[in-house]
Amino acid sequence: MPDTAADNRLIIAANRGPVSHKRGEDGEIVAVRGGGGLVTALLGISAGRELTWIASAMTPEDAEVAAAAPGGEIDIDHDGHRLGLRYVVAEPDTYHRFYNVIANPLLWFIQHYLWNLPAAPELGAAELDAWENGYQAVNRLFAEAVSDKIGSRPSGRPLVMLHDYHLYTCPAMIRERHPEAFLHHFVHIPWPQSDAWRVLPGPMREAVFGGILANDIIGLHTGKYVRNFLDGCRELMGLEVDYGSGTVSVEGREVRVRAYPVSIDCGDFDRLAESKAVLAEERKLEEARRGRLILRVDRMDLSKNIVRGFEAYGLFLERHPEFREKVTFLALMQPSREDIPQYAEYRRRISAVVERVNSEHGGSSWQPIELRIQDNFPASVAAYKQYDVLMVNAVFDGMNLVAKEAGLVNSRDGVLILSENTGAHKELAGSAVSVNPFDLEDQARALHRALTMPEDEKKRLAGMLKDTVRSNDINRWIDRQFADIKSSMGGAR
Ligand code: G6P
Repeated sequence: MPDTAADNRLIIAANRGPVSHKRGEDGEIVAVRGGGGLVTALLGISAGRELTWIASAMTPEDAEVAAAAPGGEIDIDHDGHRLGLRYVVAEPDTYHRFYNVIANPLLWFIQHYLWNLPAAPELGAAELDAWENGYQAVNRLFAEAVSDKIGSRPSGRPLVMLHDYHLYTCPAMIRERHPEAFLHHFVHIPWPQSDAWRVLPGPMREAVFGGILANDIIGLHTGKYVRNFLDGCRELMGLEVDYGSGTVSVEGREVRVRAYPVSIDCGDFDRLAESKAVLAEERKLEEARRGRLILRVDRMDLSKNIVRGFEAYGLFLERHPEFREKVTFLALMQPSREDIPQYAEYRRRISAVVERVNSEHGGSSWQPIELRIQDNFPASVAAYKQYDVLMVNAVFDGMNLVAKEAGLVNSRDGVLILSENTGAHKELAGSAVSVNPFDLEDQARALHRALTMPEDEKKRLAGMLKDTVRSNDINRWIDRQFADIKSSMGGAR
């Protein structure tokens, strides 16, 4: 395709928007900002560009706001950055099929290797219907919204940046309408080995790969995910791939597949760590503190391996009774995807294992595990500062930003226990105690090692962790992607 001049438009398409709307106590609709530096960083790069963010309406108030907005676009001012927000409004049933039947669990479970294959999934009429009338339907709505925004200007290459597994088939739908658009897609979760995709019936698999391959650049977190992606193109789609340059040839186009390990906004976290809200939460933690603190902060997701983490801790207490009453495992868990049966069941299993470990090892004066189910970001950041041991034992995880966020602001030379199956392990293995997430003995040993590590070694590891995170922060993640976009567009941008 010939390069035409880049134009000034940037369109971001992602299931979640930078804000969502809720009704406040006074009945007025208020915009609530999501946490995390990704939005801020993406807004930073949009400077001088006309940015539109297209997202799913996830609350009835989002849909209400969208219906009332002139042209369906809401003007937002996000820390001085202006952008337009357009909501894609799907029927509740359609969205349910998209989000609760296909994206999470089906795709999420495939990409994190979570299916218990002898038993699940069973793909019957309901799932096939959810694919067509849920996943594909919402992807089509996104493609229409993008296309509508691009409009029919005769020249220029609008840049569209898509995010994640919710939108795999959308790029092909955009490409059909706008062959001139530059399409870039970042996948925030692991890209698994080819056979994991064999769970999907052939036509779905082909739609996933064919859809995402309509992009010009595909970004993943690590070189391993890039190799897995290229393997999939070769083995499942019979396409020609070049492992050296990371390209796939498809229908006369070259698609670049690149590793960009995502990170955090260090400046943002430095400021946040000293904010009033965090300091107030930190005081509460310090007052209640009893001995050493083991911490985990996670969405209640099966991929996070929360149950095995508590089992391993129980084992550690059994092996090392000298630590009884001298350590507490604080677990800050955010409810997640609760309309999906596997998630609801997992939440029950978490409560059950906490009860068991607490009754086996605790007593009236000490509870070994303190489980808090909440969504309180300042409390999480306060706990990040205060941990002695941070447990990140994910089954598989695309990156795991908790390891980076917490490592950056921790003030006690805390030790990171890190699953070898996280994307973050590639960067942080040297500053962490690595664990096999299935091996309970290994995790129990890691807890003991972390709690008995000499001060100078702890200091060295914690310092290295901070340096690594600072040297690859979110700005670098963005800059590297834009450098590649620019070179792919032939220097036009
Ligand atoms: C995790 C993943 C993201 C994903 C998000 C969706 O944070 O790393 O890649 O987009 O979950 O979560 P949600 O709450 O929107 O289902």
